[in-house]
Amino acid sequence: MSQALRDARRYEEGREEMIRPEDRPAFHLCARVGWMNDPNGFSYYMGHYHMFYQYHPYSSHWGPMHWGHAVSEDLLHWKYLPAALAPDRLYDRDGVFSGSAVTMPDGRQLLMYTGVANDLTDYMEGRAVQTQNIAFGDGTDYEKYEGNPVITESLLPEGGSRYDFRDPKIWQEADGTYKAIIANNDKDGGGQMLVFKSDDALHWEYDFRLASNHGRIGRMWECPDFFELDGRHVLIASSQDMLPQGFEYHNGNGTFYMIGEYDADSHTFLEECDYAIDYGIDFYAPQTIQTPDGRRVMIGWMQNWDTCNLHTAEIPWFGQMTVPRELSIRNGRLIQKPIRELEDLRTDPVEYENVLLEDNMITLGGIEGRMIDLTVEISAADPQNMYKKFALRFAQNDIYHTSVSYRTYESVLKIDRKFSGSRRAIIHQRRAYVPMEEGKITLRLILDRFSAEIFVNDGEKVLSAVINTELEAKGISFFADGKVSLNVKKYSIVV
Ligand code: FRU
Repeated sequence: MSQALRDARRYEEGREEMIRPEDRPAFHLCARVGWMNDPNGFSYYMGHYHMFYQYHPYSSHWGPMHWGHAVSEDLLHWKYLPAALAPDRLYDRDGVFSGSAVTMPDGRQLLMYTGVANDLTDYMEGRAVQTQNIAFGDGTDYEKYEGNPVITESLLPEGGSRYDFRDPKIWQEADGTYKAIIANNDKDGGGQMLVFKSDDALHWEYDFRLASNHGRIGRMWECPDFFELDGRHVLIASSQDMLPQGFEYHNGNGTFYMIGEYDADSHTFLEECDYAIDYGIDFYAPQTIQTPDGRRVMIGWMQNWDTCNLHTAEIPWFGQMTVPRELSIRNGRLIQKPIRELEDLRTDPVEYENVLLEDNMITLGGIEGRMIDLTVEISAADPQNMYKKFALRFAQNDIYHTSVSYRTYESVLKIDRKFSGSRRAIIHQRRAYVPMEEGKITLRLILDRFSAEIFVNDGEKVLSAVINTELEAKGISFFADGKVSLNVKKYSIVV
């Protein structure tokens, strides 16, 4: 083991002791210590789910990237394992960037990741060259392959950038060969997703270009994932420098999915649509796996790049993942639902039916908390006389609250964390277009201390955001401008 990895392991063990469990999310994975970004190497190996992540143990700001590591049996209770990778070789000395995992026929786990090394000989001095690398391990300790790097710029198609070439997602084909989809920039700075192939996961060749951005959906594309779902194919990616398009996408870094038809023989992916994956404030770089029982489950980084380094570096941890989400396709859209294992953690149901609101704000006995699973069905109490606005406030006390509100005349759902205790001029609101379904909208709110995830209309849209509100603020209230009828069901979540 390298000194850099030994140092990281020693550091995280000591520093972790200074963090009280109640100061972390209860069922969302967060940085063991220091900084976390992208989920990496999301996999099921030797009877456990494994999650690695982009990790800078030494401060809560982004820095030379390591891979943190945690395991779980249900994707909700996580146990930290020692850091898996450190930037300790010539080809990855400036960072061990994102990647993925696969199980080898001999039982070892293979990690494929991007190595970053500043290129001091180049006229663009200081720009980092990115290559793809391999490490093998047993679920706890990993050793870098002596043949690294396994994919370099020499395999790139013409015009492909060696500076923006990262985040391999590897999978094994039915015939035992391997493929990896890797993000790259073309010569005009546009994002493209390249597929490489290999017989043994060590010797690689360029195969084909799966998709390119043609000047749309932002610029550089990162963190690809590509899989079959409900008989269709889905490409998931994260994009930099996006522009909004109506209610689709937002300025800055965002995520998107494409659904289409994939022909493996001709290597063509005919995209039929593209949409944002999450309409909230904090969501990026998701990865998926197939669970042993066949479900496609996605976890994303619950943060965004434009606001994530504004806190003091001294806070003991920063960065958390979303709740795992089961994916499916309905009416040509990607549907996301909180993983069903969450239902096993629900206790103490409190339920109200046909609660009437008329131009007022109410609270309901037993409906409060910061670790809850709350479903609210909202309909017009008098359909001839449509209400104008409904709002659900949570993480609330006399000073603070975060809200999700719905205006019927524009069909817009808005999340607003302006009063959550934030003291920075960051994004506090975001909107999504949500048409009513049979005069109704349904919101399922998952709160876990420092985050809110709102699943709309049974997973049709999701809005995620982190909040730093003090935990005493645990009230919930309901507001209506007009006449609204509510069904409310709340569970506490106990881990
Ligand atoms: C996306 C990303 C990846 C890269 C990693 C570096 O959030 O920029 O493309 O591998 O973060 O930490």
